[in-house]
This record gives sequence, C-alpha cells and structure tokens, in this order.
Amino acid sequence: MSEGDQQRQLHGQGIPGLQNESAGAVGASYGSSGINGSNGINGSSGINGPSPASVDISKIVSESDGSVSGISKNLFDQAVLGNPYFAAGGGLMFLGGALALMKSSITRGAGFAYRQMIVDLEISSKDRSYNWFLAWMSQFEGRMSRHLAVETNYAQRKNGSVETDFSLVPGPGNHLLKYKGAYMFVKRERSGKLLDMHSGSPFETVTLTTLYRDRNLFKEILNESKRLALKASEGKTVIYTPWNKDWLPFGQPRSKRLIDSVVLDKGIKEQILEDVKSFLKNGKWYHERGIPYRRGYLLYGPPGSGKTSFIQALAGELDYDICLLNLSEANLTDDRLNYIINHIPARSILLLEDIDAAFNQRAATSEQGYTSKVTFSGLLNALDGVTSAEEIMTFMTTNHPEKLDPALLRPGRVDFKVLIDNASEYQVQQLFMRFYPGEIEKCNEFMKKYRALHLETPISTAALQGLFVYNKHNPDGAVKMIEVLTDPNHSF
Ligand SMILES: Nc1ncnc2c1ncn2[C@@H]1O[C@H](COP(=O)(O)OP(=O)(O)O)[C@@H](O)[C@H]1O
Ligand SMILES: [Mg+2]
Repeated sequence: MSEGDQQRQLHGQGIPGLQNESAGAVGASYGSSGINGSNGINGSSGINGPSPASVDISKIVSESDGSVSGISKNLFDQAVLGNPYFAAGGGLMFLGGALALMKSSITRGAGFAYRQMIVDLEISSKDRSYNWFLAWMSQFEGRMSRHLAVETNYAQRKNGSVETDFSLVPGPGNHLLKYKGAYMFVKRERSGKLLDMHSGSPFETVTLTTLYRDRNLFKEILNESKRLALKASEGKTVIYTPWNKDWLPFGQPRSKRLIDSVVLDKGIKEQILEDVKSFLKNGKWYHERGIPYRRGYLLYGPPGSGKTSFIQALAGELDYDICLLNLSEANLTDDRLNYIINHIPARSILLLEDIDAAFNQRAATSEQGYTSKVTFSGLLNALDGVTSAEEIMTFMTTNHPEKLDPALLRPGRVDFKVLIDNASEYQVQQLFMRFYPGEIEKCNEFMKKYRALHLETPISTAALQGLFVYNKHNPDGAVKMIEVLTDPNHSF
C-alpha cells in the first residue's frame, strides 16, 4: 500500500458514512449535469478518493431562480456552508482572514482619523519662540506634569564678574496641559546628535499635539508666550551679537540706562535726540523720494567720555535694542558682514564700536590669533547696501576719527558727526550734582578746587565718575580727594 493510499484509508475510516454518501451524490449529480463523473473531483477518482464535497447540482438548479447569480449563491451555500469541513476548518480560516482584514482596516482607519483629527506643532530650539514657549509653559497653571528641568543662564561680564540666573522649565519628556478647555500633549525631545554651536546644547524640539478643531489655540499660545517674553524684557535693552548668520541676544536683557544718567556737554544730548526723533518720524518722506531709510551717526572722542553709555541710554529712551558688531571679530568676512547688516532684528540700533580698529592692522595682530577679514570697501558696500522697509540707524564710535577714511564720512554712510569730549566744567558740575543731589555749596567748593588744578587736558567723565563712586554719600571726601584727578593713571 502506498503512502497516499494509507492516508486515504485513514481518512475514509474516520468518517465512513459521510464518505460513502457524498461519493454517490457527486457521481450522480455530475452525471446528470453532463460533467463526466470520472474527473478529479469525482468521488470514484483515484486521487481524491472519497471526497467530502457533496454538491447536488440538480438540487441547486431547482432551488435557485435560474439566474447565474442565483445558482452560484446556492452553490456557495451548499459547498461551503452546508459542508461540515468548510464549516470547521475553512470557516475558521475565513473568519481569521476577515478578522485580520478588519484589524488592518481599523488600524488604517485610526491612522486616517488621527491624521484628520489631530494636529501637531513642532517648535525647534533654533526658533526664537522655543524659549518663549518653555518659559510660558513653566508658568502656565493648566500644566498637569510637574517634571521640571533647571536652566541656568550664565553671563560673564567684561570685568570677569559672573551673573547667573535659574529658571525652571518643563523637562524633556511628555507633558499634558489643558489650555482653554483643550487638552494638549507636549513632547520635548532632543533631535539627533546636532549641537547648537551657540549654547553648546543639543538641538531640541517641542511638539504640541491637539485635536484638529483646537488648532487655532496654537497661535494663541505662541502669542501669549511672546507677550510674556516681551514683558520680561520690558524696561530692558537687549544686546544682540552676531552668531553665524543670526543675531542672538548676548546675556540677559539689561535694565534700560536712563538718559539723564549720561552727562554730555551742554546741548549735545538734545541735539542728537532731536535728530534721531525727526529721522524716525520721516519714514514716509524717505520712501516717497526713494531714498534708503537709514541714517548714520558717528560719535568720536577720547575713551571714557560716555559714547557707549549714551548710545545705550538712547536705545532705552527710544525703546530700541542694540545690535553690537565688532568689525575686528574673527571669521567676519565681507559677505557675512553684508548679510548680517541686512538682517538686523526690528527696532534695533546697529552699533559699530571702535570703527577705526577694523582697519588698523596693529589692532588685529596675528599674536591675538586672528586677523580681520573685513575690507574697507566691504564695509562701505555693506553700509550702502542696507535696504529695509524699516528704519536703520547706524551708530559708530571711535577714539581716532583722524584714522578714518574720508570715504566713510560721506553722507549716506555718516550723516551726523558729533564730538563727545572729556568733561567740560559744565559736565563736572552736572555730574557732581547727580551724585550729591542738593549739595550746591559743596559743588561750588569742588568747582573752585577743580579750576585751581589747571589740568592740561580735561579729565574724562569716566575718571570723574570713579572719584564720585569711591566717595558715595560723601561729597566732602570727593572735595578732599580732588588732587587724584591730576594723575590720569590713578586707580581707586
Ligand atoms: N558723560 C558721561 N556721563 C555719565 N557717565 C559717563 C560719562 N562718560 C563716561 N561715563 C561712565 O564711564 C564709563 C565708561 O563710559 P563709556 O560710555 O564706555 O565711554 P566711551 O564709550 O566713550 O569710551 C561708564 O561706566 C559710564 O557710566
Ligand atoms: Mg565705548
């Protein structure tokens, strides 16, 4: 007996009744419908042996309405549903298939619904609103997670003193918040291995997810974060420095310097302020005449006379920020200079300090490890090329106006020049009264002694300030110590 026979035998033995019955039925029906009974399906064939598939064609035809579909329906009912084998194994298979199909369509359907009903907003740490959002979220009361991370702002001043400030922001991970009745998932995560060259920290993203119908809340949140951030810098002046192709805030915003705290010679402050204000009022005049809406100011004079302080105070007075650019900075090329000058943040003053140093080879020695790559013509091109719908105010300072190329001093580049000199008698008096309010008699005494010093060159306002700061609340001390002003190298 072959292996096939053996199997057939076992098969047959297992369900003998079925086998015989169906074999006869198939044989009869095939015969009557004109299909040869000896074909492979036939129960009497050698291959299939006693087949379980009992289909009574004549019955199907007589029970159906005669149409093809009716016949095939009945055929299906009989062959599949009426058949215990199909009902057992095939049915299960069918069910399994159907379930799998259902499952995959549910998954696909859910994905589709997710895409239709859910919206994401991704904020990258490269974007300015990133920190605004984190700060907003750390203060927001509808935040449901208490997982915070500390962020330390660290700024080192020129004199070496260090200022630190801690802020608690939502830590990396998932957060849930409820804003105006809508739930939002917030996911803060690192993106890749890229490092932010400025802060040295990895790039991150914050993703907000909410229902599609609440998508307009994203904008509200961003606006609220921005308002909060601007409020934090209200009354402050932000100093931007260039980083690659961007201007980034340098340290924390500083308190505005009051314009009254800078004492310049009679009428100078008023003269500059008047010019600046009239420039800012006349945007339409410039636009109508097709003249680039910009104005250049040059403040020149000895060091410590208050040039930088005045520009800071002016920015505070106008509620402007300052974009500080050092022309002798390493890596600054003509191209980059041109780009960043044309991309300064709105409401900012462009400040080019010690402008002569940029063209003074001595100042950019290779011992310091760098040489400036900005050329003089590069600077002129950048200044001439500045175009913006907004106003551009450029302030330049120098201690050596004689070193400047006259080409720089042409109108359009420098429109307003003013000498900020060492302290005049008027300034000495004003500064004394600012430090010791109401001490008119002491001031007269101080002025008398001051004139008696017969200084060859007037003292700088910075040195004068040093004397008064040393003698805080003590005008007598300042009067007594006045001789130190004869020694320009005196340090307190
Ligand atoms: N005219 C002034 N009025 C008030 N403070 C002054 C004045 N000039 C200088 N100072 C003080 O001296 C220091 C140096 O001034 P700064 O503005 O940097 O001088 P400059 O830029 O002309 O070299 C600052 O602390 C500033 O407060
Ligand atoms: Mg200065």
